[in-house]
Amino acid sequence: MGVSYVPVARVGELAPGGMKEVDLGGRQVLLAFVEGKYFAFSRQCPHEEADLKSAGQLLNGTKLRCNNHSYCFDLETGECTLPQGGPPLTVLPAEEKGEEVCIRLEW
Ligand code: FES
Repeated sequence: MGVSYVPVARVGELAPGGMKEVDLGGRQVLLAFVEGKYFAFSRQCPHEEADLKSAGQLLNGTKLRCNNHSYCFDLETGECTLPQGGPPLTVLPAEEKGEEVCIRLEW
């Protein structure tokens, strides 16, 4: 198995509660900075494909709500918490590496 780290932002670039669009090899991803941690996830809502760049709203803790139909997701796991058992959000591991924020890809 291989692992690679793709730099997607500089540490300090995102304000708390900020989000940034990332093109990850043609896949549209959002990077969020919440409670001192970075989270990367699909830009497309798994419910009816709303663009989470505009429809997504960060809530307290590590929750994201899609304002299209108010589905909520846990950014740590991608689990749909409202309604429970709904389609999960695709999440990717993101972490600081030196001065950069990277998304970890495994294959
Ligand atoms: S499209 Fe996101 S909740 Fe329906």
